This record gives sequence, structure tokens and C-alpha cells, in this order.
Amino acid sequence: MIQLNNISKKYSGNAPYSVHNLSLHIPEGEVFGFLGPNGAGKTTTMKMMLGLLTPTSGTITINGHSPKSQESKHFIGFFPENAHLYKYLTAEEFLFFCGEIFGIPKDELKIRIADLLKRLQFPEEAVKRPIGGYSKGMMQRIGLAQALINDPKIVFLDEPMSGLDPLGRRQVKDLILYLKSQGKTIFFNSHILNDAEVLCDRVGIIRNGELVLLGSVSEVTEKGKKTLEDVFLEVVMR
Ligand SMILES: Nc1ncnc2c1ncn2[C@@H]1O[C@H](COP(=O)(O)OP(=O)(O)OP(=O)(O)O)[C@@H](O)[C@H]1O
Ligand SMILES: [Mg+2]
Repeated sequence: MIQLNNISKKYSGNAPYSVHNLSLHIPEGEVFGFLGPNGAGKTTTMKMMLGLLTPTSGTITINGHSPKSQESKHFIGFFPENAHLYKYLTAEEFLFFCGEIFGIPKDELKIRIADLLKRLQFPEEAVKRPIGGYSKGMMQRIGLAQALINDPKIVFLDEPMSGLDPLGRRQVKDLILYLKSQGKTIFFNSHILNDAEVLCDRVGIIRNGELVLLGSVSEVTEKGKKTLEDVFLEVVMR
């Protein structure tokens, strides 16, 4: 579903590689956790898969299409690390706006928005209030709802749990499991290792732009002998 072939990225001619010789294949329906310390290259990699950044070398295909193609935009959803939402719009107006970009009919959108907000347990009283007055967790939920508005086949989530309280994290975890049960392919960046341990079919650890570990959670933790946190610390401090 997602194929990265020998991807490298330098932001400028004399900068070091932010991502170096990264190859990765994510099959349909997989939940993949992309882990790594700050500055390792997670967001850069995700933005190349979304067509928002161009690799310096290497090729990427998303469901057989170039990430830059218009086709690919129809079947992907993206939750960015720093979601900038229109603060003068209400949640409902913002989500209608996002859905209309995809050409989803109004009646259908109404149902989707109500379903998403319910699944994310977004407070009903806030739906018609401007986003500018929301808490971080509320904005995070609207960011997630916008990522799913087009019912994407592939969902890219950049740190979806960061800044959430334990209840919010549980809701996002449940949402990811629900999306998996719907056959979606999910690629997420995270630092929250115990959540990744529970959710992921496979994990990859990136350090200084290089993929240094790849495998199922059971493989990398040696069938649970170690925690994912032990493995992560071992690998990044090597
Ligand atoms: N727009 C940019 N211009 C120049 N360098 C950049 C740019 N964005 C990222 N970098 C560099 O690329 C490297 C990887 O950054 P990236 O944001 O991909 O890391 P990350 O793994 O997502 O980190 P974090 O966990 O902090 O979000 C870093 O060294 C960073 O300084
Ligand atoms: Mg990042």
C-alpha cells in the first residue's frame, strides 16, 4: 500500500541528510508505528509520503500512485504534528469546509461529521462554538476528524496522542483500533511507546535519518522479554 524505495532527504545542499536511504513497504491493513527521538526524521518522512516534501533521491508510491498526484489525495488522510485550524470557524463549519474540498455531498457530510464527533466524544455543546476557544485536546479531536472526513484508505497520523490526557489517549487508541477493524492502513509517528506497543502490527525505529530497527512488536521485544521502551532506548543510545 505504501512503498518507499531508497528515500533520502536533505533540506539544503550542504545540510546533513534528514532521512537517508530509507526503504519500507507497508501492506494494506497494517498499523505501523514509526518511532524515533526528536529530530530523527519522522515528520520529514511522513511529509514525503504525503507529497508535501520532495525526496532528494528515491521513489515513493502510495496505493500505486505518486504522492504528488491528485488521485492519491482522495484516499489519504493526514493529521499533522502542529494542526493549524481556522479559529474563527466552529468545529461544524470547519469540518464542512474540509469535506466540501473533497466534493462530498452536504447530506452525506452531515452524517459523517456527526459520526466522527461522536466517536471522538467531542462535547456537543462545543460543536457550534469557534475553534479559537477550544482546549488543546478539543483541537486535537477536530484535527483527527478532519483527517478522516474523506473516509481515507490510508491514514497518516503525526504524534496523534501527544498532549492528550489519559482519557483522550484511550479514545485515540480506540479510534485507531476501529480504523484497523475497517481495513484501513495506518502509519503513525509517536514517542508514546506503550501505546505503540499495544496498537502496532509492526514498528520501525529511525535515528539520525536512518531506519535502525524494523519488525513486529513481538520480534523486536523478543516475544515480550523486553518492553518496547527498553528496545527504543537501547537502539537510540547505541
Ligand atoms: N524545514 C526544515 N528546514 C531545514 N531542516 C529541517 C526542516 N524540517 C526538519 N528539518 C531537520 O530535519 C531533521 C528531522 O526533522 P523532523 O522534523 O523530520 O524530525 P522528527 O523525527 O519528526 O522530530 P520530532 O519528534 O521532534 O517531531 C532535523 O534535524 C530537523 O532539524
Ligand atoms: Mg515530528
